[in-house]
Amino acid sequence: VVEIDRHVRAEAVPLFIAQTSEAFRAGRHLAISDVAAMLVNAWTALKGRFGGPEVSRICLELNPFRKVAVCAEDCSVYTFSEKFEFAATHTLWNDKFSDQKNLDVFGKCANPLGHGHNYVVEVAVERPLEGQEFHIGQFEKAVNEAFIQSVDHKNLNAQVPEFAELNPTVENIARVAWRRLEGRFSGAVLSSVTVWENDKTYCTFRG
Ligand code: NI
Repeated sequence: VVEIDRHVRAEAVPLFIAQTSEAFRAGRHLAISDVAAMLVNAWTALKGRFGGPEVSRICLELNPFRKVAVCAEDCSVYTFSEKFEFAATHTLWNDKFSDQKNLDVFGKCANPLGHGHNYVVEVAVERPLEGQEFHIGQFEKAVNEAFIQSVDHKNLNAQVPEFAELNPTVENIARVAWRRLEGRFSGAVLSSVTVWENDKTYCTFRG
């Protein structure tokens, strides 16, 4: 870990400082694809530095919600992801189970009158490194319109058609979100959807 820390500070961080400073001095906007290109440069700089093990993924957190990542030095695509939030009520219940078995399987989430969660949904898309600039505003608009608006401040069982006959578990919410979001992004392909109902319980769906 100390070796990783030392090499990232010595080899990768100065690249980011140099490239962002240069863009700032030139008054040039840094596109998300420019950030991805920096990650590829960092990959090259870190190659062979760890005495055997090699880098498998480099991810830059732009803020607590947005990330840009690359998974190869010669990659032609990068991953952009953003976290969204929604609050909703649900009940997890299976009519084929006894009352006791529902409580055993679903725990507190089996309360028949429902209860709330503050959900977090991370949507990741893959984009080509070359090509048109990625518009985060359009991406956010698409996620909000296709999914978030229909679940935020709703009773998932009663007000979201997909959950009329399907338990709104994190697994099923991730799958429903995937179906709603797939094909919605111009110039980007949906890569994964992760849903957290709290810090411990989450699911990632990749189609
Ligand atoms: Ni619950």
